[in-house]
Amino acid sequence: MSESTAGTPLPIEIDTTVPHEARVYDYWLGGKENYPADRALGDAIAQHVPTIKTMARANRAFLTRAVRYLVAEAGIKQFLDIGTGIPTAGNTHEVAQDLDPNTRVVYVDKDPIVLAHARALMASTPQGRTRFIHADLHDPASILDNPDLTGTLDLNEPVAIMLVAIMMYFRDEDQPLEIITRLLDAVPSGSYLVITHPTADFAPEAMAGVKAAAESSGIVFHPRSKSDTGDLFAGTTLVDPGLVPVATWRPELTDRPTAVADAESAWYWAGIGRKP
Ligand SMILES: C[S@@+](CC[C@H](N)C(=O)[O-])C[C@H]1O[C@@H](n2cnc3c(N)ncnc32)[C@H](O)[C@@H]1O
Repeated sequence: MSESTAGTPLPIEIDTTVPHEARVYDYWLGGKENYPADRALGDAIAQHVPTIKTMARANRAFLTRAVRYLVAEAGIKQFLDIGTGIPTAGNTHEVAQDLDPNTRVVYVDKDPIVLAHARALMASTPQGRTRFIHADLHDPASILDNPDLTGTLDLNEPVAIMLVAIMMYFRDEDQPLEIITRLLDAVPSGSYLVITHPTADFAPEAMAGVKAAAESSGIVFHPRSKSDTGDLFAGTTLVDPGLVPVATWRPELTDRPTAVADAESAWYWAGIGRKP
């Protein structure tokens, strides 16, 4: 593993006095890389959604199942995991290399705290390879043209693009579909797109409270409906079971069943699309 700040350099100061989405999520997952400001916002959001920690874990558990599907069933050997998050148990390369040690993974996150931990925590198998790029998805060229990406992934071979719990930080005016299309255009037929996305479809009032709490702390939070989330898969064909509540996407691929009481109790849509 190596980290890179090639491309458009991002600021690397870590301000622990304001909450950051990566650390709030880490708090919900039970991690240690969070500070009082992050925990305060995490708790404020939990006032609206008391099961938020379970939901975060359900999202993370999906990531494991998705990677297992992609390696074991779809034959994918390369991943571009954007919005990696603070390293935790079951990082993409660990799940993938367990099944195929040759797997190559490029991680991308804009948060300097993820950069700080990436070096220490992401170690590849000797046969495979992992890289971390400190970049912002608002500027996809800074990812696609980064030498750590082009030197690690063969863009003539299929790649799984992972956008797991990240697109809610993009408002419609940020042109999320154009950004995703740019990524898909860079990879060949047989590549995959993985998205999970929080939604207000199941509990509009509660999610309005989450949005207000996040945005009052300066964090964009834009839940999307099933239809709007589905639109982000343009140019791909959804694999079975389609775009479904996150806890219900291929639950048999898990070895640690999530503690969700029912299918719709984790308010994320989840799907995997294949580029034809
Ligand atoms: C909720 S965490 C999800 C982590 C992991 N993908 C998962 O689902 O377990 C979202 C991550 O996306 C990162 N992120 C948010 N906006 C980003 C952007 N524009 N470019 C790159 N990373 C971003 C945050 O720093 C954070 O680490």
